[in-house]
Amino acid sequence: MKRVLSGVRPTGIIHLGNYLGAIKQWVDGLEASKNQDNLFCIVDLHALTTLEDSENLRHNSYLMAATYLACGLSPEKCFIFRQSDVPAHTELAWIFSCITPMGWLNRMTQFKEKAGKNIESVCLGLYAYPVLMAADILLYKATHVPVGEDQKQHVELARDVAGMFNRRFAKDFFHLPEPVITGPATRIMSLRDGTSKMSKSDVSDYSRIHLTDDADTLARKIKKAKTDTDVIAASMALMENRPEARNLVNILAALTHKKPDAVCKAFEGKTFSVLKKALIEVLHETLLPMGEKIKHYMHDLFYLDHVLEKGAAHANDLAGQHMTQIKKSVGI
Ligand code: AMP
Ligand code: TRP
Repeated sequence: MKRVLSGVRPTGIIHLGNYLGAIKQWVDGLEASKNQDNLFCIVDLHALTTLEDSENLRHNSYLMAATYLACGLSPEKCFIFRQSDVPAHTELAWIFSCITPMGWLNRMTQFKEKAGKNIESVCLGLYAYPVLMAADILLYKATHVPVGEDQKQHVELARDVAGMFNRRFAKDFFHLPEPVITGPATRIMSLRDGTSKMSKSDVSDYSRIHLTDDADTLARKIKKAKTDTDVIAASMALMENRPEARNLVNILAALTHKKPDAVCKAFEGKTFSVLKKALIEVLHETLLPMGEKIKHYMHDLFYLDHVLEKGAAHANDLAGQHMTQIKKSVGI
């Protein structure tokens, strides 16, 4: 059976990169999901690695549940749950910590980027984060993990941990999970600099689109987005060295379910102001209703609790079955 699992850290309103690179992929996958278990986690334990304010984290976990629903994850077709409502995540993470060589973690590029010069003062949790992520995935014996490009290395580490566990304790116990990284939006770039990733941590608000931006803000951000003065070429290959141009084409392609080359063909010879106009319209059509839905769900915490409880019950059930076997294998 196919089992899909993914998650986003509840660190505030998500941006267009999170939506197109991750959540939209999950929603599209649900459409075709027969004989498939779908688990979408709000990874609040991961958010603890960069915790600023506990009340905010509690609020942001609800906000993420509201966002998942507003983006189209139907609780009829999938389970939505909070990571901290399933204690087995941390239990399994410890077992995995005891079989994961430090050398594997030392290779993680995201840790190096996030720790930067503060390597001596960042917390152990940030370093061990990929082990917790491996536990998130393997606890449910997930087969498919839809994520953005930046998470590929972490999913590969989960595969390595699975292999190590199988060799050490129980042959063929874990399937090796597949990263699912497809479509034109696996790496959405900053609107201000086409060579850096759209990210929550960028100081400029104009570098990213938020799911709750209003109509004027969306229009302003796209109008101000960096481009070059050339017209749009006939294909992506002809715009190889134009990262900002490629990024806007990729965003429009992802939002309209088209291939980037088809978007190039449709706008060939036109200036970017023409493409930007079309992009603003599509963003208005897609994001404005989502922003409204997020607000609507945030007024109904009772319903959000209901969805999260149902998700946690299923997740705990599955996790419990697997943990019994895992503990037996390691001798505890
Ligand atoms: P995070 O906010 O780091 O928890 O990321 C949540 C999901 O969004 C992960 O699957 C990331 O790979 C994905 N993601 C984050 N930023 C981007 C981006 N700029 N482009 C595409 N996907 C992204
Ligand atoms: N580390 C992921 C990120 O920063 C979030 C995440 C945590 C995740 N656990 C996961 C993604 C399990 C997929 C599967 O984006």
